Amino acid sequence: MQVDLLAGTEYRPLAVPRPQPTILVFDSGLGGLTVLSRTTQACPGAHIVYAADDAGFPYGRLGEDELVTRILAVMERLVARYHPDLVVIACNTASTLVLPALRARFAIPFVGTVPAIKPAAAATRSGIISVLATPGTVARVYTRELTETYAAACHVTLVGSTRLAGLAEQALRGEPVDDDALLAEIAPCFVVSGRGRTDVVTLSCTHYPLVLERMKRLAPWPVEWIDPAPAIARRVVNLLGPVAEGPCPDATAVFTSGAGLSGPLRIALAGYGLARIAIEPVPLAN
Ligand code: DGL
Repeated sequence: MQVDLLAGTEYRPLAVPRPQPTILVFDSGLGGLTVLSRTTQACPGAHIVYAADDAGFPYGRLGEDELVTRILAVMERLVARYHPDLVVIACNTASTLVLPALRARFAIPFVGTVPAIKPAAAATRSGIISVLATPGTVARVYTRELTETYAAACHVTLVGSTRLAGLAEQALRGEPVDDDALLAEIAPCFVVSGRGRTDVVTLSCTHYPLVLERMKRLAPWPVEWIDPAPAIARRVVNLLGPVAEGPCPDATAVFTSGAGLSGPLRIALAGYGLARIAIEPVPLAN
């Protein structure tokens, strides 16, 4: 029996994993691709479905009740269609809110993505850390509790960026993104106080690693950027057990709208191994 540190939920690891388990990687948009690549590296024999709720993007602006209802409805459709053995919620904005409801509703393991505040507190030398996330994630009770539990001795700056997830999507689509726009979103992370300056920034929205190299270049000073994707991939391996390698059906990307599926985006998706595209329409209720 293993304990999921996120919610204390216990799952029994599958003693005899299917030769090719299906892993559903879910995000509001394209950010979960940063988690997908680590997961496919860690489980090369798994059948991957990447689901982007692009009709709901960005989740950062949605109210909590609306978001829970939405994600349960979308997941209902995806689970019925793809029968995943495990779901990765590759979205902090969703995970910090909806994991208990998902686990109550579905009898499959859910691996969440939450702000890496504990590793940041362990890594900092100045004691000054920043959590770069969506406005939804920084407002969550869950995030406040993580901070109080693991980083009480640190000076923690929560930065709720309204634009960075969208800018990261633009960059992935090959559209131009101004340095000034990126810098404006990350600048509040860089804090100087009597005890020193910020030395660790957590990437607490899965979209942000898509523009990490640019953020590093634009940063006022070097910091350690923590991307939780490798830890999530380890957790998946841990739950699934060994996955037999072998020929898999093509990985599929499924969108709830598909409105932004341009040629360059299709090429970018193919670069992540997602050559098959499907649309599962779930319009956002007004
Ligand atoms: N990628 C998502 C996250 O990790 C959210 C972006 C959004 O939809 O606002 O938080």
